[in-house]
Amino acid sequence: MNEQNIDLVIFGGMGDLAGRKLLPALYQIERSGLLSERIRLAVVARENIETKAFLAYAEQRIRKAIPSAEWVESVWEKLARRFSYLNIDFSNKKDFSRLKGWTDPNRLLICYMATPPSLFGAISQHLFDAGCIQESTRIVLEKPIGHNLESSCQVNDTVGRYFSERNIYRIDHYLGKETVQNLLALRFANRMINSQWDNTCIDHIQITVAETVGIEGRWGYYDQVGQLRDMLQNHLLQLLCMVAMEPPNSFAADEIRAEKIKILRALTIIDESKVEEHAVRGQYSAGWIAGQPVRGYTEEVDCKNEVSKTETFVAIKAHIDNWRWSGVPFYLRTGKRLGEKVTQVVITYKDQPHGIFPNRTDTSMNRLVIRLQPNEGIQLEMVAKKQSLKDRLSLEKRVLNLDFFDATGEERIPDAYERLLLEVFKGDQWLFVSREEIEASWHWCDSLIQAWQAKSLKVHRYSSGSTGPAKAEFLIERDQRSWFEE
Ligand code: BG6
Repeated sequence: MNEQNIDLVIFGGMGDLAGRKLLPALYQIERSGLLSERIRLAVVARENIETKAFLAYAEQRIRKAIPSAEWVESVWEKLARRFSYLNIDFSNKKDFSRLKGWTDPNRLLICYMATPPSLFGAISQHLFDAGCIQESTRIVLEKPIGHNLESSCQVNDTVGRYFSERNIYRIDHYLGKETVQNLLALRFANRMINSQWDNTCIDHIQITVAETVGIEGRWGYYDQVGQLRDMLQNHLLQLLCMVAMEPPNSFAADEIRAEKIKILRALTIIDESKVEEHAVRGQYSAGWIAGQPVRGYTEEVDCKNEVSKTETFVAIKAHIDNWRWSGVPFYLRTGKRLGEKVTQVVITYKDQPHGIFPNRTDTSMNRLVIRLQPNEGIQLEMVAKKQSLKDRLSLEKRVLNLDFFDATGEERIPDAYERLLLEVFKGDQWLFVSREEIEASWHWCDSLIQAWQAKSLKVHRYSSGSTGPAKAEFLIERDQRSWFEE
């Protein structure tokens, strides 16, 4: 079979993910000329409409998601010609014969599940019963894959009955971000950085994923999961792996995954005896974001539980039990409705072994700030002599700034989903998460959740628009360190 003859079927193609991410990503891939002529697209959803009505909807969603200057009518017309709309009720086995009629056994079928995970099993089974699944058929799964280790195993077992592991593409969209991949380049293509990347040189590492958005009308889902399961179990732990893993033998999927899994398995379990010192939970109350008043979590319009104790913020002090990272704390924090949207990794280096300058302070430590979004770039804080005839050898902090966006001269940074869709078409799993990784992440998170449940860990309130609960400051200040805030 010619691998380039591809049929991509998006299940849940009228849903939020497809509208916000997948359709715009397909448009941008088409615009950049990278969508092979031999790719056909189908959208499968419950709505009883024709392809024409779907195209009107898709056009409107894409226009809304991209800057107007990037709209090119001829690109859209070319993309639109690839689409078919199939009206299928996912719970109705018989409807799948319509899909079977559309597919072609001589083409590679890729099934993208932009649906709630509870449907992954049923859809896979119906696909199988309808005779759509061949040995080469790929399936793409969106998170969340379960809400704990047990349920994630159930999802993986069910899907695994119909698809082999090498054909299962589990998305963590952070891995599709250009700047996250850039972490690999930064670490492994720069001797200067690589040679200083361990506990002999690094004092501690901070990973922050701060969001200004709230739960965006997803109260029903979010209240069942909270920020640890929604963000830390996947995105932050994947970032942690990228920062902490050993150099892989190559960038082949198996090699990278093997290194990531070692990190996840080396995470020290935070049990009841440690949880109060290592974890902070928070929940946003009303406040102001970008000059606008916003509601508190339990005042959101779709709130069903006014006394909910679900966390919308979490800060964790983690350790990796291995040779390279022994004694180096990793401070992780993520929260909704914070003052600024920022994703960054901050590496703070140890001070010199012996001080020969007078008046040295902690601020003279070197710090490498890797900003993943927005304003993608790197800052290196260095210490230099203060230029002055008055002072003999006074020091001051200077910052070297590398802005990726300006430096590349690129028109725009591609969205994560553009990269991920291209990798699925190519059949390369290097940016997708393996079953073992998911299970190791859940294993660690489950113990943490059990520990905080056993200790009834308080959920501290923080005002929307702030940097999170004050208790999160104590988590790091207790160690004579502080969060990096620009
Ligand atoms: C999703 C979470 O996985 O990531 C959302 O479910 C979160 O709650 C989103 O807002 C953040 O992604 P990004 O790309 O905007 O940082």
